[in-house]
Amino acid sequence: LNYRVPRTRREIFETLVKGLQRLEYRGYDSAGVAVDDASKDAKDDNNSISLIKKKGKVKALDEELHKKNLMNLDVELDTHFGIAHTRWATHGEPSAVNSHPHRSDKDNEFVVIHNGIITNYKELRKYLTSKGYEFESETDTEVIPKLIKYLYDNRESTYVSFSTLVERVIQQLEGAFALVFKSIHFPGEAVATRRGSPLLIGVRSKYELSTEEIPILYNNGHYKEGVEERNFRNRVDSSSALHSVCDGKAVEYYFASDASAIIEHTNKVIYLEDDDIAAVAEGKLSLHRMSRGAGEDPVRAIQTLQMELQQIMKGNFKAFMQKEIFEQPESVYNTMRGRICFDTNTVVLGGLKDHLKEIKRCRRLIMIGCGTSFHAAVATRQILEELTELPVMVELASDFLDRITPVFRDDVCFFISQSGETADTLMALRYCKDRGALTVGVTNTVGSSISRETDCGVHINAGPEIGVASTKAYTSQFVALIMFGLMMSEDRISQQKRRMEIINGLRTLPEMIKNVLALDDQIKNIADELYQQKSLLVMGRGFNYATCLEGALKIKEITYMHSEGILAGELKHGPLALIDKHMPVIMVIVRDACYTKCHNALQQVTARQGRPIILCCQDDPEIVKNAYKTIELPQTVDCLQGILSVIPLQLMSFHLAVLRGYDVDCPRNLAKSVTVE
Ligand code: G6P
Repeated sequence: LNYRVPRTRREIFETLVKGLQRLEYRGYDSAGVAVDDASKDAKDDNNSISLIKKKGKVKALDEELHKKNLMNLDVELDTHFGIAHTRWATHGEPSAVNSHPHRSDKDNEFVVIHNGIITNYKELRKYLTSKGYEFESETDTEVIPKLIKYLYDNRESTYVSFSTLVERVIQQLEGAFALVFKSIHFPGEAVATRRGSPLLIGVRSKYELSTEEIPILYNNGHYKEGVEERNFRNRVDSSSALHSVCDGKAVEYYFASDASAIIEHTNKVIYLEDDDIAAVAEGKLSLHRMSRGAGEDPVRAIQTLQMELQQIMKGNFKAFMQKEIFEQPESVYNTMRGRICFDTNTVVLGGLKDHLKEIKRCRRLIMIGCGTSFHAAVATRQILEELTELPVMVELASDFLDRITPVFRDDVCFFISQSGETADTLMALRYCKDRGALTVGVTNTVGSSISRETDCGVHINAGPEIGVASTKAYTSQFVALIMFGLMMSEDRISQQKRRMEIINGLRTLPEMIKNVLALDDQIKNIADELYQQKSLLVMGRGFNYATCLEGALKIKEITYMHSEGILAGELKHGPLALIDKHMPVIMVIVRDACYTKCHNALQQVTARQGRPIILCCQDDPEIVKNAYKTIELPQTVDCLQGILSVIPLQLMSFHLAVLRGYDVDCPRNLAKSVTVE
C-alpha cells in the first residue's frame, strides 16, 4: 500500500505477484489478487474491486493477469492497496473458487486473505447462512468476509471504522489466522490482524525513520460507534508515530506472512503480536488492541532485518528439509489444533466422525502406504491395536497389490500418503474400494487423488513439505493416527486412564520436540565422526522399531550410505554377524516395556566390540556406562516416544548429507511424489 509514492498499476501487480512467488514454498495450489478496479478511468475512483483467482502456481495467476489485458496499467496512482495470496488447501480442494481472496458478496464489498485455520467456521457458516448469506466456496475462510459484511450492514450508526469492524470479527473467530482486509467502503485503507499465524508489516520511506517504535492504541472496550469512534480515530491519527516521522508524505506499507515477500522493498519491519490490529488510513499506520494485558508491551518495535533474501526463503536454514525438521513443534501442533479438547479429553476428527460407528464394527484395520508413510503405520500399529482392540495389518502398497491380498466388505482400509498421489497407494485404494471396504485417507494434500477417492479421511495439516525426504509429514501422520485411536476408544471405560496419559503426552509434545531439536549441535558432532563411513545400522524394537526403519531410510535417501533399520529381536538371527569394532551402530533404548530386552541386545553388541551410539532417555546411567556415545531424549508416553526418537535421526541424516557434499532437498534418483508404479 503506497501513499504519495506514485506507482503504476503495472508496478502494483508486479509487486504482488513477485511477493507471492517468494512465498510460494509455503503453498502453491492456487493463488489470487484483489486490487482496485483496473477498468476505471478515473485515477482515484477506488470504489470497486477486481478479484482475479486461478488454480495452480503463481505463474498461472500471472499469466491470467496478462491475459485479462487489464486497462490502464500505466496509470499512476497516489494511493493504492492490493492484496494477494498463494494457497495450500486445508479445507476444500484447490480451485479458483476456493482460493483467496474471499469475498463478502458479488460486489466484492469486503475481500479477505487468510493464512491459518478457522476452527469454528461451521457454526459461523450456519449462522450467516440463516441470515441469508450464500457461500460459494468450501473453505473455512469464507465466513470472514461474510461476517464483516454482516457487522457492517448491521452497524448502529453511519460511521464505523474499518479497524473496529475487524476487531469485532476477530472476537468471533476461533483457531489461527493472519488476515488482511480490503473494502470498497474504505477505499485506500488497509486493516490486518493475526492470532497464531505470523504477520509482519514492512515500512518503506525515503525519509529516515527516526522512531524505533509504534505505540499501541487501546480502546479498552470504551468507545462506541459514531461520534466517539470518530474522536478515537482522530486520536489514532495524531498519535501515529510513523505519521509524525514521515509527515504522512511518502510511505509504502507491506503486509506479509513472511519477510521473504517484502525484503526486496524494505528491511524495516514490525512484527505483530496475537490480536494486534494494524490499520493504514490516509497513509498513516496505527496499531490497536482491545485492552492492555498485564505485563504487555505497549509498543511494537520497528526492526531492521539483517537477512539476505535467499536466507529468508528457507528461513535461515540451509535446506528445506532442515527447515521442515525444525518446523515440527508447529506442524505437530497444527495436526492437533482444534481437534483435541484437553479439558474434556476428547478428540474429534471431523472427517471421520460420521463413519465412526461403521469403523468400530469392522473386521480389521489395514494400513497401507509407501516409504515414510508406511513407517507411520508401523509406528502406530501397536497403540492402535491396544486402543481399538482390533487386528491391525500394516502393508506396503506395492506388496499388498502383488499378493492380491484378500480384502472384505467389513474391512476398513487406511491410505497414508503425504502427497495423496503415490501411484501404488492409489491403486491399492482402488483395489480395496472395488472389494467394498470402507476407505480412509490420511494425507497432507487436500484435493489430492487419495483424499478425493476415499470415503472419508484426515488431513494432517502439516503444511507443504518440499524436501524429498519426508520429515514433518511423518510426525504429523503419527499424531493423526494416534488421534484416530483416541477417538475410537472414547467410550471404553477400561481405556480412560491410558487415553488420559496419551492426551497429556500430546499436550506437551511440541515443547518436548523443541528440546530434542536443541540437541542439534551434539548430533552434528556425532555426524562429523561418522560421515566417512560406508554403512550405518539402526536398531531398536517395540514402539521404536519404526524409528529405526525411518531413520535408516532417511540416511539411505540423502546420504547414499548403506543403512539398515534392524528389529533388535532379530539381532541373533543374522544382523549380529555384521557387528565388529568398525561397524557404526545406533541403538534406540528408551524406558518402555522393551527396555530390558533392548539392554540384552546392547550387551550382545558390546561383547563383540561394537561401539553403540545410543538414543536413550535422560538420566539413565546404566545406558551411559555401556554406550560409546549417547543422545539423551526427554521421556514421554511410550507410544509417543517414537516421535521424539526419530528427530535426532532426521537431523543426523541431514548433517551426514551436508558433510558428504550432497543436495539434501533433491537426492539423486528420487522424487517427492512417485506417480508411476
Ligand atoms: C517417495 C518420497 C518419500 C515418501 C514416499 C511416499 O518415495 O520420496 O519421501 O515417503 O514417496 O509418498 P507419499 O506422498 O505417498 O507419502
